[in-house]
Amino acid sequence: MKGIYPSKEFVLSANVRDPAIYSRASENWIEFWEDFARELEWFEPWYSFLDDSRAPFYRFFVGGKINACYNCVDRHAEKKNKAAIIWEGENGESRIITYYQLYREVNALSSALKELGVKQGSKVALYLPNLAEAVIAMLACARIGATHIYIFEGFSAKSAAYRLKDSRAEFLITADGYFRRGRLINLKEKADEACDEYGKIKKVIVVRRAKNEVSMVEDRDHWYHDLLSKKNTSPEVLDSNHPLFIMYTSGSTAEPKGIVHSTGGYLVHVYATSKMVLDLKPDDIIWTTASLGWITGHSYGVYGPLAVGATTLLYEGAPDHPDICRIFDIIEKYGVTVFYTVPTLARMINGCDISGYDLSSLRLIGSVGEPIDPETWSWLYGELGRKKIPLVNTWWQTETGGHVLSQIPALTPMKPASVGKALPGIEVDIIDDGGKKVKPFEIGNLVIKKPFPGIMLEINGDTSSYIKFYWTKYGKRVYFTGDSAYMDDEGHIWIVGRVDDVINISGHRVSLIELEHAVMEIPDIREVAAVGLPDRVKGSAIALFVVSSNPGKEVAEKITEKIERDIGKIAHPALIVFTPELPRAGGKILRRAIYEAVVNKKVSSVVSNPDSVEKLTKLKPSDR
Ligand code: WT7
Repeated sequence: MKGIYPSKEFVLSANVRDPAIYSRASENWIEFWEDFARELEWFEPWYSFLDDSRAPFYRFFVGGKINACYNCVDRHAEKKNKAAIIWEGENGESRIITYYQLYREVNALSSALKELGVKQGSKVALYLPNLAEAVIAMLACARIGATHIYIFEGFSAKSAAYRLKDSRAEFLITADGYFRRGRLINLKEKADEACDEYGKIKKVIVVRRAKNEVSMVEDRDHWYHDLLSKKNTSPEVLDSNHPLFIMYTSGSTAEPKGIVHSTGGYLVHVYATSKMVLDLKPDDIIWTTASLGWITGHSYGVYGPLAVGATTLLYEGAPDHPDICRIFDIIEKYGVTVFYTVPTLARMINGCDISGYDLSSLRLIGSVGEPIDPETWSWLYGELGRKKIPLVNTWWQTETGGHVLSQIPALTPMKPASVGKALPGIEVDIIDDGGKKVKPFEIGNLVIKKPFPGIMLEINGDTSSYIKFYWTKYGKRVYFTGDSAYMDDEGHIWIVGRVDDVINISGHRVSLIELEHAVMEIPDIREVAAVGLPDRVKGSAIALFVVSSNPGKEVAEKITEKIERDIGKIAHPALIVFTPELPRAGGKILRRAIYEAVVNKKVSSVVSNPDSVEKLTKLKPSDR
């Protein structure tokens, strides 16, 4: 397949346009990353680029002292008329915050946090919707060296409590409520429930957003705006490997894993890739449609864009409220230049009539989170991008902090749905289970052969899982991504999907085992298997195959409720099927056989009880 080259106009103004960047990075790997690092401000330089003596616990920019907030805010605060954040509420309210105002407000919140007892090393949980205050809270934590733990606002109280407990958070910043599809969601109520379950939150700060009635616990709860003072707080001089934040993600176990990211290495990685891949410049307005509560929101909604000094656009609500044209309204209204989104959203806008909009401000489109189908790719490129602007398909993970595979827009020809190549400074391979490189077009496991600055520090409090999940299959020097992929004869890579028991719904990782555990707690359930079925819009949809002593609507409702309560609405099952038994091989439940039966109508030959899947092959699409 031949690639599509970017327009000359784009190439001429791109941040990176010399193809020699690839060879330079591989010949002088350290210098390549150090050059980016030097574009940031350090209080003290590092003495060693990489300490790998405790592999797989890699430490970058050792000895360096840095502050992420200083680099994202103070450095640009002189530009008093320059927007840092553009915020739009679902109800149409909007707010523009300049770098100077951001500097003032981050300072004010930092000193308030200190007065409440937050110190360097404290853990501060943020259970917030996409509000400017959420960005301010992240930066205020970074300023004083507190580690933030963002909990996506859509998560249930129980999921939030798990994250509070696992991270040992002492402080929580939340909001009274927010708007989603016109409905007011009472977030404070969920936050209170999570605090009660965990029991160790000392102080709660509440952002007034929806002005709904909430109850405030005396001595524990404070209104955000009442706390702000006029005091400044100098940024803490932090070690490069000081933990900036913890982000929870689903892996192939029942419990979400707390991925810990560093300050220096992480910031260098997201800064470098914001420039190389998203081609960000200070004049850009980037709209990263992911919630702040996901890694994409952290890396390319906050730290990357602000480190570059660009403007980031935040939207509070559902992208299709009041209808899907909201997306184009926002791009047009603010003149968004870089639109970084997920295939799920792209599939929703695919086919929209955009002839009535002036979307000419757009100069780059990015996709992330899940494989994109060629049809949706073509619409994004051909319609939204008018075949004039590059479309980068970025592959990375919560664990990698920032981009790993992607086109470099001015350099790499685009092939629909391919994720391009490894970025300069990063080395990947596709290998079989024995570690042997597979041939072009053969599917294998995607691995990263060398550490890189954005790689996580560890899994919070769980050394053995950290080693087991990522650094055991191929040893302590080769990072196992958990994805399968193939490469064409020109080295372009296509992602096939996860190899473990994790599925991707609208770009969010959901652990099948975590789901099954939640369902198993319901009394009438004997057995359950969760399977991801292909879904045109969301990528995957959850189907549950359940053995129950009381099959029927009542139990099905209980299951849905339980999942929403324990995990959150994103894990809402699309299909619940009661079945007398589940397919097995030996003693093990074979999820793959269920998938084969339902999707491909085949009875897998390794199943020891074929009757169990026979019936499933007859499920009609209408049952699904
Ligand atoms: C998993 C990581 C990266 C931020 C959002 C998700 C899948 C990610 C792509 C892509 C195909 C992709 C992988 C990966 N994924 N980007 N461009 N094409 N698949 O972060 O929740 O940590 O999930 O998302 O399977 O392992 P995450």
